[in-house]
Amino acid sequence: MAESPLIAIQQVSKRYPGVLALSDITLDILPGELLAIVGENGAGKSTLMKILAGVITDYEGQITLRGNTVRFASTREAENLGISIIHQELNLVEQLSASANIFLGRELRRPSGFLDQQAMDRRAGKLLAELECHIDPSELVRRLRVGDQQLIEIAKALSLETGILIMDEPTSALTESEVARLFRVIQRLRERGVTILYISHKMDEVFRLADRIAVLRDGRLVEVLARRETDARKVTHLMVGRELAETDVSSPRSVGDVVLEVDRLWLSWPRHARGWRLEDISFALRRGEILGIAGLMGAGRTELLECLFGASDEVPSGRIVLDGQEVTFSHPAEAREAGVALVTEDRKRLGLFAEMTVGQNITLCTLEQSLRGGLLSRGLEQQHAEGIVSRLGVKTACVEAPITSLSGGNQQKTIIGRWLLTQPKVLLLDDPTRGVDVGAKAELYRLMDQLCRQGLGIIVTSSELPELLTLCDRILVLCEGRQTGEFSRRDATEQRIMEAATMRRVSASACAV
Ligand SMILES: Nc1ncnc2c1ncn2[C@@H]1O[C@H](COP(=O)(O)OP(=O)(O)OP(=O)(O)O)[C@@H](O)[C@H]1O
Ligand SMILES: [Mg+2]
Repeated sequence: MAESPLIAIQQVSKRYPGVLALSDITLDILPGELLAIVGENGAGKSTLMKILAGVITDYEGQITLRGNTVRFASTREAENLGISIIHQELNLVEQLSASANIFLGRELRRPSGFLDQQAMDRRAGKLLAELECHIDPSELVRRLRVGDQQLIEIAKALSLETGILIMDEPTSALTESEVARLFRVIQRLRERGVTILYISHKMDEVFRLADRIAVLRDGRLVEVLARRETDARKVTHLMVGRELAETDVSSPRSVGDVVLEVDRLWLSWPRHARGWRLEDISFALRRGEILGIAGLMGAGRTELLECLFGASDEVPSGRIVLDGQEVTFSHPAEAREAGVALVTEDRKRLGLFAEMTVGQNITLCTLEQSLRGGLLSRGLEQQHAEGIVSRLGVKTACVEAPITSLSGGNQQKTIIGRWLLTQPKVLLLDDPTRGVDVGAKAELYRLMDQLCRQGLGIIVTSSELPELLTLCDRILVLCEGRQTGEFSRRDATEQRIMEAATMRRVSASACAV
């Protein structure tokens, strides 16, 4: 007899104005399994998970949990029945500390009724330590990097002693070593019998972790496969509905003259008299070249891009020469003016304006292009936005739709589009394909290749090494703020880059012995 399901999703549909996000989904979730949910950007993965977690309360169809029909009116109700969700777009309160976020709404109190900050910090510290995350629990969330923030979300779910854990692209901001750490945590949770629903765009993860794989396409459940009986090619085919053409970005591009030169760049830690975040970085970028920056979390990749964009909190020392002119940017607006664009890794915090439409998010930096006789022409603005939407294949009902109505990957494309409109000379991309599906990734690679052929210089970071290896003409490796390697496309291998990326730690521990 078949195992009775822990959760039975029956004929669930979710409609938004102009979009059928989910269409008649019927799916059983078995106790203790790890079910991967895959599908292209906008396929409906997050929507389905939000329904299960009580985030979306208004839907058609029925859900039963352990045989009882449930209809959650809030995430709190779902949590009380043991279902927690770790969102794709992090959901933390930035002005609060790590521990305050973990215990938000369930604060620990002293018998007197006052908050017991110490107890919360202690418990939070313990939970985070279980995740092998060693930050100070009283540190404000906004001071932490995305990778640590993600671990706080996981700690929060752990604190609820959840029986069903939903993870919406949990590894998208993590480096390889952090992913390995997360997988150890997942393993421990599974040993405790926790049922896990795991959304990912990364086939290697899915095939490593999952017992079964549910494939969504355009809001429908296409198929549920046992992992042992399928392979990545089949799953991708079901997701996309066609064979994916190999992306050919390796045909040689002709590289032009130097467009950006960085000479002995040093950046200090804020408020610290000693120590450097970036130490003595020098390199040149040519027109038509894609330069990759590799390194582990905390290596200084984001800091380097922020320096080049005038967005670092401290002023770096050293020389930056753009197009033959020495520049110092004290604000991103100056960098943009001069022809530098940055697509940030953390789209929610630095990139997207949640209260604006898709179109407004695209044209935000280039409103001057939509002036007609000194006045803003809505028609022109719309035309520019629509141009980007069709060029990048952004999946949206229309450009007037709120940006929050787009799936994660499509939001990312929107931000890239915004910066393309500024017609930059140098484009800085900080982990641009984070959370982007396989098909859209291929589109982005092609786009970057195309832009380079038009004479743009691109600097890109990625948490996925194979991605840098396919894309880049050259790869610079950072480790703890220092340049520890540089490889041409011909010489670059995963092994060599990882060695350079961990060089300093290895030598430091060797000294300690
Ligand atoms: N609040 C909303 N209002 C209108 N449409 C929405 C809203 N939320 C989601 N949608 C639409 O529903 C569809 C499914 O979105 P969903 O976020 O579930 O996709 P996803 O599979 O999680 O994609 P991704 O991989 O990009 O995260 C998309 O077409 C999206 O634009
Ligand atoms: Mg999603």
